[in-house]
Amino acid sequence: MAGPVLIFDSGMGGLSVARALREHYPHAAFCYACDNAWLPYGVREDSALTARIVRVCRAAVSACQPSVLVVACNTASTLALEQLRMELTIPVVGTVPAIKPAAAASQSRHIGLLATTATVRRPYTQQLIDSFARDCRITRVAADALVIEAEALVGGAKPDVRRLATALEPLWQATQAEVAMDTVVLGCTHFPLLKPWLEALAPVPLNWVDSGDAIARRVGQVTDTLVAHCGDGCCFTTAPAASLQAGLAGYGFHTLSRLSLD
Ligand code: DGL
Repeated sequence: MAGPVLIFDSGMGGLSVARALREHYPHAAFCYACDNAWLPYGVREDSALTARIVRVCRAAVSACQPSVLVVACNTASTLALEQLRMELTIPVVGTVPAIKPAAAASQSRHIGLLATTATVRRPYTQQLIDSFARDCRITRVAADALVIEAEALVGGAKPDVRRLATALEPLWQATQAEVAMDTVVLGCTHFPLLKPWLEALAPVPLNWVDSGDAIARRVGQVTDTLVAHCGDGCCFTTAPAASLQAGLAGYGFHTLSRLSLD
């Protein structure tokens, strides 16, 4: 099926994935869908969230008629990928914490995992650690406050640096450990949007690893029919989002519509 690439997230975090996809495929067509009425996903109960993700993705697929769905959300992917693949007839590319590349990059074998409350605890995340980072110490930090700050940033506000610093304090402590953490997995797609602030606040230089490039490569593998960009990329939201319009336009999504859920 020929159609755009549909990028889905709870909110604006998927824009960090959209940025990587546009770098890899500058001429491809993209749509964006977000469930901002249910944001943040990272503190929601699993079974209700699974049902909600499937419902929103089905509606978004029906509205966009994409060739591939990119679930640009670690919290959604580590929970509902299997269900989405069962329900949808198009390829579904997920986003999961970049534990494997982080383990390959870490010299000290001490890695930080910065993600939502849900993602740091998920069995899927533990499986990734068991498969790819068995010999590493993992410091898990749930930082849901960063999701809200990244949303505000896309809305045109400056992040609250004091709030960021408080959320990141447990991560910085790991840089003082006897075997110091040298690499941090950005296990939530909102967090790469805040990377300049993360780098500025870090007490020591760190390797920051996200999943953007790996997802872009995977999209190229699952579809050979990336249709050419024609006109504006459209964005579907589940709640009114006029304040996000300018921010979305900065990532190439100019047309904003309300997603109707059946
Ligand atoms: N952007 C999402 C992720 O990658 C989660 C944000 C949220 O908690 O809604 O996990």
